[in-house]
Amino acid sequence: MRALSSLLLLVAIPAALAVKSHDFKTCSQAGFCRRGRALSARAAAHPQWTSPYSVDADSLSISSDQATFTAGVKSAIYPDIKFGLEVRVHDDGVVRVKMDEVGGLRKRYDEAASWALIAEPKISKDIQWTVGTKDIRAVYGDKKDVEVVVSFEPLTVTLYRNGKEQVVLNGRGLLHLEHFRKKEDAKPEEVTSEEALESEGTQQVLKTPNLHAWFEGEEEDALWEETFSSWTDTKPKGPESLSIDITFPNHGHVYGIPQHASSLDLRTTTGESPYYTDPYRLYNADTFEYLADSTMSLYGSIPVMHAHSADSTVAVFNAVGSETWIDIAHSSVSSTETHWISESGILDVFIMPGPTPKDIFAQYTRLTGTQALPADWSLGYHQCRWNYVSSEDIRAVQKKFDEEDIPVDVFWLDIEYAEEHKYFIWDKKNFPDPVDMTNDVAASSRKMVVIIDPHFKRTSSYPVYQEAVDRGLIVKQKDGQTDYEGWCWSGSSAWVDFFNPAAWDWWKTLFKTYKLGDDKFSWTESTEDVFIWNDMNEPSIFNGPEISMPRDNIHYGGWEHRDLHNINGMLFSNLTSQAITVRGEVPKRPFVLTRAFYAGSQRFGAMWTGDNLGTWEHMAVGIKMVLANSIAGFAFTDVGGFFGNPDPEMLVRWYHVGAFSPFFRAHAHIDTKRREPYLLDEPYKGMVKDILRRRYSMLPIWYTAFREASTTGLPVARPHYVAFPKDEAGFSLDDQYFIGSSGLLVKPVTEKGAKEATVYLPPNELFYDYDSYNLYRSPATGKKITVAAELDQLPLFILGGSILPTRERPRRSSSVMRHDPITLQVALDASSSARGELYLDDGVTFNHQQGQIVWREFSAEKSGKGIKISSRDLTTQHLASAVDSVALTTYDPANAFAQSISSVRVEKIAVLGLGAKPSSVKVVGGKELEWEYSSGVSASGKKEGSSSLLVIKDPAVSVASDWEIVVQA
Ligand SMILES: *[C@@H]1O[C@H](CO)[C@@H](O)[C@H](O)[C@H]1NC(C)=O
Repeated sequence: MRALSSLLLLVAIPAALAVKSHDFKTCSQAGFCRRGRALSARAAAHPQWTSPYSVDADSLSISSDQATFTAGVKSAIYPDIKFGLEVRVHDDGVVRVKMDEVGGLRKRYDEAASWALIAEPKISKDIQWTVGTKDIRAVYGDKKDVEVVVSFEPLTVTLYRNGKEQVVLNGRGLLHLEHFRKKEDAKPEEVTSEEALESEGTQQVLKTPNLHAWFEGEEEDALWEETFSSWTDTKPKGPESLSIDITFPNHGHVYGIPQHASSLDLRTTTGESPYYTDPYRLYNADTFEYLADSTMSLYGSIPVMHAHSADSTVAVFNAVGSETWIDIAHSSVSSTETHWISESGILDVFIMPGPTPKDIFAQYTRLTGTQALPADWSLGYHQCRWNYVSSEDIRAVQKKFDEEDIPVDVFWLDIEYAEEHKYFIWDKKNFPDPVDMTNDVAASSRKMVVIIDPHFKRTSSYPVYQEAVDRGLIVKQKDGQTDYEGWCWSGSSAWVDFFNPAAWDWWKTLFKTYKLGDDKFSWTESTEDVFIWNDMNEPSIFNGPEISMPRDNIHYGGWEHRDLHNINGMLFSNLTSQAITVRGEVPKRPFVLTRAFYAGSQRFGAMWTGDNLGTWEHMAVGIKMVLANSIAGFAFTDVGGFFGNPDPEMLVRWYHVGAFSPFFRAHAHIDTKRREPYLLDEPYKGMVKDILRRRYSMLPIWYTAFREASTTGLPVARPHYVAFPKDEAGFSLDDQYFIGSSGLLVKPVTEKGAKEATVYLPPNELFYDYDSYNLYRSPATGKKITVAAELDQLPLFILGGSILPTRERPRRSSSVMRHDPITLQVALDASSSARGELYLDDGVTFNHQQGQIVWREFSAEKSGKGIKISSRDLTTQHLASAVDSVALTTYDPANAFAQSISSVRVEKIAVLGLGAKPSSVKVVGGKELEWEYSSGVSASGKKEGSSSLLVIKDPAVSVASDWEIVVQA
C-alpha cells in the first residue's frame, strides 16, 4: 500500500508524491533498452542482417548421458571474446538453452533459475544428438514428432513439431551478450569487414567498414553511468546487457509476462502499427495509481510467455532476474516475433514444446512448482482496510458483520498496527491486547492477517533491526561495506538481504509465538491465527530511483541489486511462508500475501493486483490481470479498488468481480470512506450480502479447482483459450472465463449503467444460466448471446456436461461450513451425460499429503431410457491409472478424514435438461426417493429455453462413499 497524502510523506519526501508515469522509465530512458531497440532497428534496416554469433563446431561435446551438449560460441565482432553454449533436453521435452561469457573479466549473474526452479530438472533418456556440418539436431517425443535443431552459422535454436517451426531463438539475429570490458578500452579496435570475412564463414553482408558500428551502433550509449531524474546509477561493471529474439512462427497470439495492466492477448509494441509505443516492461515497482492500459511495470515480474494457435501451444521461460523489456510484433496473423532485452544475466531460456495449454502448464509446473494447496478458509471473504485503527475497531467490525449476518473469514491490519511502523511491534495505545483481540476473532472461527514489510526502522531499540545488523544481514551500498539506508514508512530504514543464507533461519525464529530460550526476539504477541501480508517488497523505497533500491547496491555473493531485482520480493515471501508454516508444534498451511513476485512465487502464497483505483477501467483490467497472472502460475490473485470512493453501483459490481476471483479481498486506502458491506444502504447491502453468500455456497467448487491447480498447474481462473484451445474466436477473450474445470463460466459486468451483457459461447456446447436455468445452444461457429445483467444479476453459466458441488446453507465463516451437506447441480450435455469433482480435506494441515482426503467423481450417464448418477472414489482411480501426479504412496478410502465426514450427506440433486418426467428415482438398493419434476427444454433436443428440472430431495447418500441413483424414464 502506498500513500499519496500521508502528512509524514509530504514532509519527508515530496519527490515521491507526484506519482505519474514520469517517475518510471520508458525504454528510451534506460540505456540498455535503448541499445537493444537500436540493435533491432539496425537489423530491420539491413535486408541481409546476420547474427555475428556462431558455434565453433570443433568444440562441440556431447555429455555421456546424451541429453546435453556444450560448444564454444564466437562473435565475429569480438573475435577474442569467448562464449559457451549448453543445450539440454529434459525428460518432458523442455529444451534448456544456456549461454554465458567464458573467461571474461567478470562473471555474469547466473543464479536466476536456481531461485525459480523447484529442483534440477530430470534429463531425457531418449535423446540422440546428430552432429552435421551445419548443425546439431535431435528428434524426440513419444511420436518422434519434435525436433530441436541448433544451427552453427549463425547460431540459431529452432524447435520443430511435425516439421513445422514452433519456436526460433536468434532467427532475427538480435542475440547479443555485451561482454565485460575495461572502461579504458571500451571503444574496441576497429575490425574491418575484410578481417571479419576471413573469419570462417562470416557472411558477405558485412559490407560496412566498421563492424562494431554495424552491430553495436556508432555511439557508445550509457555504458558506464546513467542518470534518471536526480539519481545516478554508477554501473561499475559497465555494459552487460542481454538481448535475444524469440519468434513463434505459426502462432498468432502470445500471452503471459505478467504483471501489466493490459489485455491478456499481448499487443504489438513495435513495427508498422504498434498499439503501445513502449515494450512490455518487467521491473518490480511500486507503480501506485497505475494506468489502466499500459506496458509499464507493476509489482511483479514473471518472464513466461505462451504462444498459441488453433493447433499448437508452446511457451518460453526466460530465467533472468534483472530488468527486462519485451517488444512484440505480430508479423502476420499467424506469426509472432518477440525481442527480450535484459540489463544483465546469462542467457537461460526454457522452451516448452506443448503442444496443448495443458501440457504447457505441466511443463512449467515441473520447472517452477505449483501454487501450494491453500488453507480452505483463505478462499472465504477477506475484509481489509488501511487501517482498522484499534482492537476495539476490529471487534466492532466483526460485531457488525455478525449482526447483519454477512459472512467473512479474515480481518486484516495494515501498517498502522505497528508502533512507528516497526513491524511485529504493536502500537499499544490502540492495540493494547493483540492476543486477546486475535482470540476474539478466532472464537468466531475467523483469522487475522497482519502486515510485515521488509523495511526495518533503523533504531537500536527495534530488536528486529538490531538483530539483523548484529548478524551482518543488511543490504550494502555500492561500496559493498556500508549498510544501505533508505526512506520508507518507518522513516530511515534498512533492508535485510534475503539472498544471504544466514538470514533464513533467523527470519523463521521471529515468528515463533513462544519465548525463545535466549534474549532473541520472537512474536509472543501473536498466535497461530495470525497470518501475514508482505507488502512493499519490490522493494519500495520512497527516496530511491523509481521508488526502489539503487541498482548498484550489493547483495550476498557480491551481486549487484540490478542482477536480482525481480527475484528479491520472492525470497521475502518464501521465507515468511516457511516461517508461518513451522511456527507452531504442528505444521499448518501458511497464508502469505505478497505484492512483489517472480517465477516460482506461486509456491508461497497469494498475490494481488496492487494499488489500483476505484474506477470502472481498473475493475475491468483487474480481470485481465488475474487471467494473465494465472497462466504464469498464480492461481491466487485478488481484485479490489484501493484508491477513491466507488459509488454503490460500482461497489456491487466489484463484489461480483471479487466473488469470482480466486482470492477475494476488499481493501481501501486510508483516505477513503469506510465501505464495509454492512454500511451500504438497501438495496445495495442486500445485493452484496447475496454475492457473499453465493461465494460461500461455491467454496467446494473453488477448493476443488485449487486442488487441481496445486497438482497440475492448470489455472483456477481459466482463460477461454485454455479451456477451448481450438476455438479461434475466443483467443482474445479476457472479460469472461471459467472456474477451474468445473464448467462454470462467468462474465462480470464492468460497465456503468449496464442492463445487459453479451457473452460468447464456444462451438457445439450447451450452457445453462445458473439462476434461471435457461438453456442455450451454440452452433459450430459458436455464438454470442445477450442476457439481462441488472445490478443484482451476474451472467453465470454452467457448461452442459458438468456437475457442480455447492453448500447452500449461509454461515458466518467458511470453517463452520466444513460439515455442511452438499448440493449437486447436474447439467446434462446433449448425450445426457455429465461429470464433476469434489475435493475435501481438513483444510488446514498437511495431512492431505498422507492421503487424509476425500476426492470424488460424480457422473451422470444414460442408462436404458433414463440416467444413472453415481459417485466414485477418484484417488483410487488416479492411483491405478497414474493420470496425474497424486503424490500419495498410501491411500485408504476409509482414511480418518473420510470417516470424520462420513455423516456429511448430499442433501439435494438438481438435474437440468432431462428428456422427460421420470417414472421412478431410487438409490440402488434403496427405496423410492422424494423428487419433483418440472418440464422444459431437454439437453438432447434441439430447442433453447427454460430447461427441464428434476429436483431429488435429500437422497441422504454420503459424500465420502460410493453410491448410484437411478432415474428411470
Ligand atoms: C524457497 O522455497 C523453496 C521451496 O519451494 C526452498 O526449497 C528454498 O530453499 C527456499 N528458500 C529460498 C531462500 O529461496
